[in-house]
Amino acid sequence: MAGFQESFDRLKRVGQEHLLHFYPTLEDKQRAALLAQIDSLEVESLPGLVERYVRNPAKQDPPSGLQPVDAYPHEAGSSRKPWDRAKYHQLGEQLLRTGKVAAFMVAGGQGSRLGYDGPKGCFRAGEVSRRSLFEFFGLGIRRAQQQYGKPVPWYIMTSPQNHASTQAYFSEHRSFGLDPANIMFFQQGMMPSFDIRSGKVLLARPDEVATNPDGHGGSIAALRNSGAIADMKRRGIAHLSYFQVDNPLVRTLDPVFLGLHAHAPDSSAEMSSKVIAKTNPEEKVGVFATVEKNGKRVVEVIEYSDFPAALAKERNADGSLRYNAGSIAVHVLAVSFLEKLASDPNFELPYHRAEKKVPCVDLQSGEQLVPTSNNGVKLEKFIFDAVPLCRASIVLETDRIEEFAPIKNASGVDSAESCAQIQTLRAVRWLDAIGIKAPRKMDGTPDCVLEIDPLHGAEPADLRERVQGLVINPGDRRVI
Ligand code: UD1
Repeated sequence: MAGFQESFDRLKRVGQEHLLHFYPTLEDKQRAALLAQIDSLEVESLPGLVERYVRNPAKQDPPSGLQPVDAYPHEAGSSRKPWDRAKYHQLGEQLLRTGKVAAFMVAGGQGSRLGYDGPKGCFRAGEVSRRSLFEFFGLGIRRAQQQYGKPVPWYIMTSPQNHASTQAYFSEHRSFGLDPANIMFFQQGMMPSFDIRSGKVLLARPDEVATNPDGHGGSIAALRNSGAIADMKRRGIAHLSYFQVDNPLVRTLDPVFLGLHAHAPDSSAEMSSKVIAKTNPEEKVGVFATVEKNGKRVVEVIEYSDFPAALAKERNADGSLRYNAGSIAVHVLAVSFLEKLASDPNFELPYHRAEKKVPCVDLQSGEQLVPTSNNGVKLEKFIFDAVPLCRASIVLETDRIEEFAPIKNASGVDSAESCAQIQTLRAVRWLDAIGIKAPRKMDGTPDCVLEIDPLHGAEPADLRERVQGLVINPGDRRVI
């Protein structure tokens, strides 16, 4: 580890030597921790980043020539772009049966919107079962293993803030019945947080630099640095089913999507994505569109915060939103694609800037500040910025009630409450499809709270035997 003088000189070269302002007042242990933290940061890149993203942030204009994306429609028989669902289902199942697929979950975020203290994946997602988000995913993976007879390794990206507590949660819950040898936790990188006006890196405490996880885009480097990519290759894994930690309805391993990704004629089998129709122009989901790059049309995702309101409101003749391909943050990624990106010294995803309240120490007074307005800038990379780097990337449209009920907020839209409602709607729909009626209120909404056990089924037909003769009474609360 570098000593004080060496670290000071290194910081001074990039105008950030104030990070050692309190060094003389610290105890030995604190000094060592601070120097180690500074060692771990790529400070040499800071001047460029500060200029570009903190001091002179360019307004992120959408690329010119934007066009809606041509997604595979949810209804495979649609005349717009017909496709053979059964064929791709079979091809996807083949990948699973031959052990070519692993699950990849990003769970390193800070979950600040939910206001939950602890790894977000420990949050309760089962209104009836009280199961956590992690448990939903774990059971979904267990079901796929049982169904296809091959282990499905599970790679989980955490951040230093929640790594130990995530691992402890999995141990306490015996990894939900999965073999721990097939679960690999690895940590993403951290970025310093900046003062919004000066671009100086903030100190969280006299002995600690303020940092934030570097975004799920940081996973590309982290997968390689942690040895996860090498592990995948050793196990013969070719594709990763990617999802984030907040959506208990996600199909952790969807054969249809895997089959399309790997075999559709217009897919390069590098990175594919799932979308749903947006509910309204303001819905907080990234938007898939195409842009012209080097004479070629490429698929791109524009984050909701960067998507111009006027474009978001544009409508087709039938009243639907013109740009309605909303991202549910579900992808399939080829291991070879990730390896190619991670080993390219010239590859770097762009950073995205977010203005945030960052608790910090005042350099003059030494006082701890708890800001009430945004005082800091956090920089993050997004995994979906890799989509336009594919030779060809496909997008599959899916149904919201089947696959998207994220828990992001404490109440209202995308909350535990809305998630439970959507889970009930999905269960009612599945039961209906196999001839079982659930009670309804006068207004037509379900008069029961239902949850589908991910171990029991990934589609309605899976439940048929289990629910034979089942009667659901008004007010019932049940796991099916
Ligand atoms: C995200 C997508 C949005 C998409 C929506 C669907 C981003 C930037 N935006 O929005 O386009 O429509 O989901 O639900 O992702 N994470 C990490 N490390 C980090 C930051 C985040 O692992 O450094 C993980 C989180 O744990 C979470 C996921 O990434 O699982 C999403 O993070 P969040 O920043 O909450 O994105 P959203 O605003 O929900």
